[in-house]
Amino acid sequence: MTVFSIRWRQVTATFVLAFACTATAVAQERRAYAPPDLTSVRAVMAERGMVVAQERLAAQVGADILKQGGNAIDAAVATGFALAVTYPRAGNIGGGGFMVIHSAARNEDAAIDYRETAPAATTPDIFLGPDGKPDTDKSRNSALGIGVPGTVAGLALALEKYGSGRFTLAQILKPAIELARDGFAVTDDTADTLPDMYRRMARWPDSARTFSRSDGTALREGDRLIQAELAATLSAVAEQGPRGFYQGPVAEKLAKAVRDAGGIMTVDDLKSYEAVIRNPVRGTYRGYDIVSMPLPSSGGTVLLETLNILEGFPMPDMKQGSAPSLHVMIEAMKRAYADRARYLGDPAFVNAPADILISKDYATKLRGGIDLARATPAEALSAKPPREGSNTTHYSVVDSSGNAVSNTYTLNFSYGVGLVADGTGVLLNNELDDFTAAPGASNAFGLVGFEANLPGPGKRPLSSMSPTIVLKDGKPVLVTGSPGGSRIISAVLQVVVDVLDYKMDVAAAVAAPRLHHQWMPDVVRVEQGFPKETLDALREKGHHVIEPLGQTSANSIAVTPNGLLGAPDPRTRGAAAVGQ
Ligand code: DON
Repeated sequence: MTVFSIRWRQVTATFVLAFACTATAVAQERRAYAPPDLTSVRAVMAERGMVVAQERLAAQVGADILKQGGNAIDAAVATGFALAVTYPRAGNIGGGGFMVIHSAARNEDAAIDYRETAPAATTPDIFLGPDGKPDTDKSRNSALGIGVPGTVAGLALALEKYGSGRFTLAQILKPAIELARDGFAVTDDTADTLPDMYRRMARWPDSARTFSRSDGTALREGDRLIQAELAATLSAVAEQGPRGFYQGPVAEKLAKAVRDAGGIMTVDDLKSYEAVIRNPVRGTYRGYDIVSMPLPSSGGTVLLETLNILEGFPMPDMKQGSAPSLHVMIEAMKRAYADRARYLGDPAFVNAPADILISKDYATKLRGGIDLARATPAEALSAKPPREGSNTTHYSVVDSSGNAVSNTYTLNFSYGVGLVADGTGVLLNNELDDFTAAPGASNAFGLVGFEANLPGPGKRPLSSMSPTIVLKDGKPVLVTGSPGGSRIISAVLQVVVDVLDYKMDVAAAVAAPRLHHQWMPDVVRVEQGFPKETLDALREKGHHVIEPLGQTSANSIAVTPNGLLGAPDPRTRGAAAVGQ
């Protein structure tokens, strides 16, 4: 028996656990989405600039910056800091993420990696129990799962390198500080999720204080959320730049809170955190350039691998949402997610064959293995390596000069690990669950991994976040991305295919029902809205089709000859497009 097949047993054994945990982690995302009549869906139109984000106040903050002459990057940074206040479920300064930028002024595409890092004391077996088996409680529910937050460094770096230069960091932070200090009414998705998640957060006194009424129960729709300590932390960043977060009193309080809760993050871990500017992953799809996130996110690599496979099929001739079209999409997803599991990890630690995976030749080879009549069993894909030669919120911004920003950032679970660090107002992540606790184990989203994604000191856990910009002749035509853990990449794929191949209006493409296959487990998860005959046809080909599919939210912008079209995803209450 090969090493791989021994691991295979571990893989299958861990599924039950992973999916049980996933169910808890994303329970609130499982509200069934019933897609509207797609012909009646309308995008929001604007001429001079647009921000589409999961929460209206924060989208407005970015749009105001555009109005005052800021570029898309200024606006994106302002929206990012504002969401940290107004959308505590996923907006954050206690987590991390990725920003893909198209700078028209510099004729350059860039990716800012502000993924959390593992503390220096991290060992590969940190998330194993005494029996040597993965202990998911450690990575998901304890302070050991907290990665060194990257958001402050990442947003500040984006502003410094790609901002218009018209705004200081303090000016960009001002609206967020005011929203934290003065408060705002809890509505929409926060009102929908906070009461459920409060029980988990209230384990820690500062979290309970931050998100409760005076009677100790969770804030509800219409209540005012005031975050004075968060306002003070943001003010420290406004006054001192990232040093105000990564060094001095805020850093000391963050490290103390994590250590008091049983974690291992130190002030030195915070002090040594660095956001990184990377070359985006680039590829083409039917004459369009796809610019997306490179490792340590698997997003861009898996997206391009699937698109390259699909390019060889006559997608435009197949009806959108038809069984033949969905079949080849599922088969492409399955193959690319299998490669994700096997090969991808932090490029500072592993030499992943990403260039091979996104090559057209490799896609041709994989395409040759797709049977148009039958689903390939996931297990059959497991041992075919290529020769040598990865709760969240997404927002999109476009300005009048053709700059574009696609930003996805996260605390991992909804409200992260639930710990607000005492005296800082900073809600912390449990991002380190995205590592693979042991070869063959899976994270909360059921994503299997192997050696490439084991925990290590200073290492960034493999991500699926896929902020993506599609360009035609060097100009952005689509800005998209999504939350949803493992489901992010397939959500982005379907928006891209629906817009490019099926010429769907971006709002209809975003609203259309989605499906998902991540290689393991060997099932196709589907949203409501696919006709029964289509699902029956997929089942006849051998696909294991099951409902539900946890929620994604692909807040997107299309740039068209008729102006900007904003598509807030209708799946999650509160998403808004604010245009100029
Ligand atoms: O980086 C990742 O891939 C995950 N930590 C993202 C988590 C996520 O999207 C949760 N949202 N539903």
